[in-house]
Amino acid sequence: MKKLYLFGNWKMYLGHEESVALARDLKKQLSALSVKATMAIFPSAISLLAVKEELDGVASVGPQNVYWVEKGGYTGEISAMMYRQAGCQFALVGHSERRHVFKESNAEVRQKFEAVLNAEMTPVLCVGETMPERKDDRVEEVIEAQLRSAFMDLAWPKGRSLIIAYEPVWAVGTGESCDPSEAERVAAVIYKFVGALLDGVEPTVLYGGSVRSDNVAKYCAEPHLSGVLVGGASTKASTWLEIVSAVK
Ligand code: 13P
Repeated sequence: MKKLYLFGNWKMYLGHEESVALARDLKKQLSALSVKATMAIFPSAISLLAVKEELDGVASVGPQNVYWVEKGGYTGEISAMMYRQAGCQFALVGHSERRHVFKESNAEVRQKFEAVLNAEMTPVLCVGETMPERKDDRVEEVIEAQLRSAFMDLAWPKGRSLIIAYEPVWAVGTGESCDPSEAERVAAVIYKFVGALLDGVEPTVLYGGSVRSDNVAKYCAEPHLSGVLVGGASTKASTWLEIVSAVK
C-alpha cells in the first residue's frame, strides 16, 4: 500500500493565537482518529515553533518559504538552515503564490530548492500552470521548465526523498478543483520528467488546489498521487478533520 501524505498550508490566514488554538484542537482530535498518513502543517513563520510544540507526535511543521543563504545581513529573511535547526523536516518551495504574487523566478526557486536540500530537509517543490497556459496547451512545457530549472546539474543526494506538489494555479484558492483524472495525468508526466532529469529518482507527487473532504479521496486513489497539499480547508479544525476522516 502506498504511503499517504496530508499536508496543510496555512498561508497567512491565521494570527498567532488562532494558529496555536487550532494546533491544540487538532492535536486533541487527531490523536483520537489514529491517522496512518504522514501529516505536516506549514504555519506562518511567527507561529511555527509554537505550533510545532502543540502538534508534537501527530504532525510535523515546516516553512512556507525559505532564504538560501545560511546566515548574514539579509534583513527579514529566514534561511532553510535556520528552519532545519528549529526542527523542521519539510519545506515548501516555489508555491504558486510565491511565484505569481511575489514574482519568484525559476532561478530563485532553484536556489531555495538547493538550500532546502543542503539543510537536509525534504523539499516540497510546487509546480503548476496558469489557466492561459493550460488553454494554450502548454501544461507539460511549463511544468518541465519548472522541474528542469530546479534540478539542472544537481548532484542528487543518494537516498533523499523528493516531494512534488502539482498545484495548478487556477485551482489554488478558487474553489475550482482539477479533475482527479487530469491531476493523475499530470502527476504521471511529473513522475516521468523527474525520473529522466534526476536519473531514476522516484518522487512522491501530491495534488493541491481546492481540495475538500468531498474530493480528497479521489485524488489519493490515483496511482501517481500520494496525497494532498491543502490550503483554505486546512485552516479550520472541522474541515481538516473531515479531510483526514475522508481518507482514513
Ligand atoms: P487551496 O486549498 O486553498 O486551494 O490552496 C491550495 C494551496 O495553495 C496549498 O498550498
